[in-house]
Amino acid sequence: MTRLAPVLKMNDGAAIPQLGLGVMYIPADELPAVLAEAAALGYRHFDTATHYGNEAGIGEGIRRLEVSRDELFVATKLPNAAHGFDSALRAFDRSEEAIGRIDLYLLHWPQPPKGKYRETWRAMVRLRDEGRVHSIGVCNFPAPLLDELIGDTGVAPAVNQIELHPAYPQPEMRTANAARGILTESWSPLEHGRALANPTIVAIAERHSCSPAAVVLRWHLDLGLVVIPKAASPAHLAANVAALELSLTDRDHAEIAALARADGGFGPNPMVHTTEQGA
Ligand SMILES: NC(=O)c1ccc[n+]([C@@H]2O[C@H](COP(=O)([O-])OP(=O)(O)OC[C@H]3O[C@@H](n4cnc5c(N)ncnc54)[C@H](OP(=O)(O)O)[C@@H]3O)[C@@H](O)[C@H]2O)c1
Repeated sequence: MTRLAPVLKMNDGAAIPQLGLGVMYIPADELPAVLAEAAALGYRHFDTATHYGNEAGIGEGIRRLEVSRDELFVATKLPNAAHGFDSALRAFDRSEEAIGRIDLYLLHWPQPPKGKYRETWRAMVRLRDEGRVHSIGVCNFPAPLLDELIGDTGVAPAVNQIELHPAYPQPEMRTANAARGILTESWSPLEHGRALANPTIVAIAERHSCSPAAVVLRWHLDLGLVVIPKAASPAHLAANVAALELSLTDRDHAEIAALARADGGFGPNPMVHTTEQGA
């Protein structure tokens, strides 16, 4: 029997599976097969973005699954080129057409130099109020920007998806999100694969006779984070979901905590990132 990930409750009352599958870089035509493999292993949460160019593959993959749509959770992200009230509404229409039902719509980057994230969030609140999407959230939002969104609309994002892995555990952002009732979701949770070669992670995995990926993902789960590792091969999909079966010790946690580095992040600075393409 497949083991399903536990669910966390968001501030709008909806449930989000704590372990999902990130599908960045998976071509649309390969997604139906990846989703079928993942669903058989127990994955119920899929995280994509308009920027990944594969929303139609998610839609097609979901239609082919034997799992009931009500058991699935699908997130996608508003692209950087669509900031602005009307363009945000149109971007959602296009994503919905490609995917079908969207459970969580995320504002991908704040792009402060463009100065449009506040009106974009107002459009997302409109989508939620009209029942087009149940949950709305953001990615890469520093705390002062979160407060602007909340101050404008009274609506706190359900989640804030941020770069987070053992080298870059972002304790201040986790605290800031929690103080505002926002769940923290970890992107590039395996540090884009680099965390898996870390000697500390490898040694912990050897102690538990499991994969390094399971160790890192169990650490995210133990911190109460939503986590969306990307994997395409059946072996990696299975190794990652095995995190659900693992128990880490206090010693393991102390050793992983020691991997944090001030310069451990690799993603762009959210206060200046404005490109139309990319993550
Ligand atoms: N909101 C944002 O701004 C943002 C930015 C970046 C990413 N994201 C989201 O986060 C998701 C994950 O991020 P990511 O793809 O950058 O990095 P990641 O999940 O940290 O790492 C993915 C890499 O690790 C490898 N891998 C996965 N499981 C493995 C295993 N068990 N053993 C060995 N290698 C394994 C993958 O290889 P294979 O592909 O060969 O399996 C891939 O090369 C994305 O898909 C996307 O949904 C969001």
